[in-house]
Amino acid sequence: MSAQIIDGKAFAASLRERVGAHAATFAEKAGRKPGLAVVLVGEDPASQVYVGAKGKATLAANMESFEHRLPADTSQDDLIALVEQLNADPAVDGILVQLPLPGDLDEQAVIAAIDPGKDVDGFHVESAGRLMVGREGFVPCTPLGCIMLLQDRLGDLSGLNAVVIGRSNIVGKPMAQLLLDANATVTIAHSRTKDLPEVVRRADIVVAAVGRAEMVKADWIKPGATVIDVGINRLAPAEGEKRGRLVGDVEFAGVKDVAGAITPVPGGVGPMTIAVLLRNTLVAAHAHEG
Ligand code: GUN
Repeated sequence: MSAQIIDGKAFAASLRERVGAHAATFAEKAGRKPGLAVVLVGEDPASQVYVGAKGKATLAANMESFEHRLPADTSQDDLIALVEQLNADPAVDGILVQLPLPGDLDEQAVIAAIDPGKDVDGFHVESAGRLMVGREGFVPCTPLGCIMLLQDRLGDLSGLNAVVIGRSNIVGKPMAQLLLDANATVTIAHSRTKDLPEVVRRADIVVAAVGRAEMVKADWIKPGATVIDVGINRLAPAEGEKRGRLVGDVEFAGVKDVAGAITPVPGGVGPMTIAVLLRNTLVAAHAHEG
């Protein structure tokens, strides 16, 4: 039997549409659009693509986009001064500093400078702490997008065994907390986990977020499990290809014959990240208008 393919692209398009409609209503009432500021330091090509895509999606969702592109040699003080200026700007509801930052810039210090009320990425320690203790706050966009896809597919997650592979602050840890909040039984696996295939075989839900191309194999998956692939890895170009294929952390071709449902790469989790960012920005805008 072949797995249902979870269409994150369609889900994200529908979410962006709903957020856009709410943003238009917000603008009528507030006399201004919700505003998202994106800060990009340096010339990293992948980051430039992401930032361009975020700007376009923001405008398409009836929001204001403020882009700040700074040179790679920007100092820590100048970057923090910009964040503080955005904190004070009433037209800006959300602030996103694109990571990774180049050179010696201290990411934690820059994120700490963001007003937690504008932390639409959910990376501030206050946001992380709120998630941990179950208080309202901003949740990182990628794991929030994953839990939306899971709940859409499975409904109630109570009592299900979930294995999150990867323990990053941006995906793995918040993902585990969201699954726990949804009453799943959660295991976080990582590079030191013993007998990873055996651990993953117990899972009704697998979330792969390790950044290793096609690491999760078909014989690791319990038949019928739901598999969420957060990885985006570019393979080396094959003969005759200019650019290598994009693949996830899951070996899609094999796993799709065992899983009950699986997100593809591309077109699965990726599009959800920007849609949730817009959703978080709308939530911030409402909070700022009281
Ligand atoms: N770099 C890669 N993904 C992200 C993200 O979701 N937010 C930010 N700020 N930087 C990123």
